[in-house]
Amino acid sequence: MPTPSYTADYAASRHDPAEFWAGQARQLAWHREPPRPVLRQEPGTGFDRWFGGGQLNTSWLCLDYHVQNGRADQVALIYDSPVTQTVRRYTYRELLNLTSRFAGGLRQLGVAEGDRVLLYMPNMPEAVVAMLACARLGAVHSVVFGGFAPAELAVRIDDARPRVLICASAGMEFDRVIPYLPLVTDALARATHQPDYVVVNQRDFCVAALDAEPSPTAEQPAGPIKLARLVDYHELLAAEPVEAVALDAAAPLYILYTSGTTGRPKGVLRDHGGHAVALKYSMSAVYGLNPGDTMFTGSDIGWAVGHSYIVYGPLLHGCTTVLFEGKPVRTPDAGTFWRVAADHGANVLFTAPTAIRAIRKEDPEGHLARRYDLSQLRHLFLAGERCDPATYAWAGELLGVPVIDHWWQTESGWPMLATLVGYLDMPPPRAGSAGHPVPGYDLQVLNEAGQPLPAGTTGLVTVRRPLPPGCLPTLWHDDARFQESYFDAFPGYYLSGDGGYRDAEGYCYIMGRVDDVINVAGHRLSTGELEEILAAHPAVAECAVLGLLDELRGQVPVGLVVLKDGQELSENDLEQALVQLIRQRIGAVACFRQAAVVARLPKTRSGKILRKTLRQLADGEKFPVPSTIDDPAILDEIRQVLARRGIGPGAETNLPPPLSS
Ligand code: COA
Ligand code: AMP
Repeated sequence: MPTPSYTADYAASRHDPAEFWAGQARQLAWHREPPRPVLRQEPGTGFDRWFGGGQLNTSWLCLDYHVQNGRADQVALIYDSPVTQTVRRYTYRELLNLTSRFAGGLRQLGVAEGDRVLLYMPNMPEAVVAMLACARLGAVHSVVFGGFAPAELAVRIDDARPRVLICASAGMEFDRVIPYLPLVTDALARATHQPDYVVVNQRDFCVAALDAEPSPTAEQPAGPIKLARLVDYHELLAAEPVEAVALDAAAPLYILYTSGTTGRPKGVLRDHGGHAVALKYSMSAVYGLNPGDTMFTGSDIGWAVGHSYIVYGPLLHGCTTVLFEGKPVRTPDAGTFWRVAADHGANVLFTAPTAIRAIRKEDPEGHLARRYDLSQLRHLFLAGERCDPATYAWAGELLGVPVIDHWWQTESGWPMLATLVGYLDMPPPRAGSAGHPVPGYDLQVLNEAGQPLPAGTTGLVTVRRPLPPGCLPTLWHDDARFQESYFDAFPGYYLSGDGGYRDAEGYCYIMGRVDDVINVAGHRLSTGELEEILAAHPAVAECAVLGLLDELRGQVPVGLVVLKDGQELSENDLEQALVQLIRQRIGAVACFRQAAVVARLPKTRSGKILRKTLRQLADGEKFPVPSTIDDPAILDEIRQVLARRGIGPGAETNLPPPLSS
């Protein structure tokens, strides 16, 4: 448990990080206690390593520990799925039983410690069981969000090289069934690596034929899924249960792919030891939850938020977690989050500001929330993007509980900035700010030259090493990219990719990405990747993709394209073709719906496209015309095209502009 003083814990975490985290590690039941010092530099790379030599197993800590310590009959997981009209409860004993059997089934398929298992499943208990079963065996899971298209799935298959791929037969988007097996077949046709088995969890609204060979199509001429044997998920549950393997703290627990600034996603790696210590600490310090409390995180297990606060955090802490399959709106209405929170007595609700904006749009007066008894709710936590003050105020007024905006990334795996409600001396939350640094995070705002900036000045948000436990120890199979992406700019500092500032009272403000990453409805996308895809269209000579302000999703990508000479395509046809291309290559979740043809793009005299200027222009911001621009007249040309196509400033928005300094 944290001490009651944030100030004391924060100071202790910086003064002697190893000692502070050794203290937090005592909250867990280790198979073998980690030897001191608990923080060392890895020989060769010099990267920070937490708890090396200690042994534990995350699955054991999430399940067996609680079953053996009085929580066997407590509900561990509540699956609430308005899209399939199902509510199911699993006690810790039941979840352990399923997990240890499924782990036995995976072992029969040859899955061993260090093997990768890829999951392509929506929020459903079988996915959580599969994640915990992998952890039990020391296998490394990688969950791919269901909104990604087969091409993205293929990239992840080739990078992770899984022995087994586990998928659901289908997902459900509102009332639309999305069969997954054809998507997996397509991905395997594109991938070089083939898993030995594809395990299919059948859903009764879409039962896939597991004995028939997938028929070749023009899109998928070969049938490489033939090479992987199809297995029914439930057959694996018939296996004998297996015990958890004792693992070194540094053993990998999962890989989670996230967008970098190029077309190749980054495989963020998470270890067993540091991750378990950090999440256990965060459950009480950040979220103020006690064992036995209920947490409802309205995210997807395909994202870091879902990994940490649907699955691992609540279970490590002996809480009840709510696994929600649906959307904040139209499943069946904008009261669904409030209904779920009330029905299951959630003490904390955690979601993205986009979800609250979507609810507010459909139910501006908040009538639906008033139908439910939310008296158990203590806090609403928001993350994934900056929470605009209007949304912050609306949610706070509606729910009558503190709204806590907190900042984190896939890389950190847990919050870096927050108002930590587990401490008594924590300054209260403030609209627009993501709070104060969480113990373990030495946040520094630097200028381009790497010098610290004074309070109130916007710059690059960095974290001084060592990063605390739980943060990525490296990228999967790519130490060089890890070093280059995060540490080469300012040696000794982790570069977050976000811009922001700290005010004179110590409140921190994260204002938006300063690199080529954009945030669409809390989903992280690389504009570089989108540009690579558009540029591959035969009519496109060059292009720029901008993340423009959007009232609902925060940002949406918009393409500006210059055509090759002699192209006869109409602008509308080209736009449709480009939209389809992005849907096929990335997936619908990219929300790429608009592209405009321009005669030329503004560039510096050295030929670099002025993307920031373009975005400012499209968002209707005031900006200085860059002195390096080769021809300022281009900006007026583009302004006219955007006005004609209805792209940009017309949209009303409550959002603050992204970083503009
Ligand atoms: N599987 C398949 N398709 C998916 C998908 C999934 N898991 N998730 C999204 N998509 C599709 C949608 O069906 C939609 O397709 P369409 O263009 O054919 O209609 C497209 O991707 C865009 O999805 P989305 O941006 O989610 O729009 P939406 O209208 O379905 O929902 C919100 C809008 C705001 C309700 C939704 O984005 C939301 O709940 N946001 C919260 C985000 C969040 O929790 N992020 C996690 C970080 S904490
Ligand atoms: P992801 O890795 O997908 O979780 O996305 C991380 C990015 O989301 C961060 O780099 C930020 O740009 C943004 N983000 C997450 N939480 C916040 C927040 N509370 N305030 C501002 N931006 C946020």
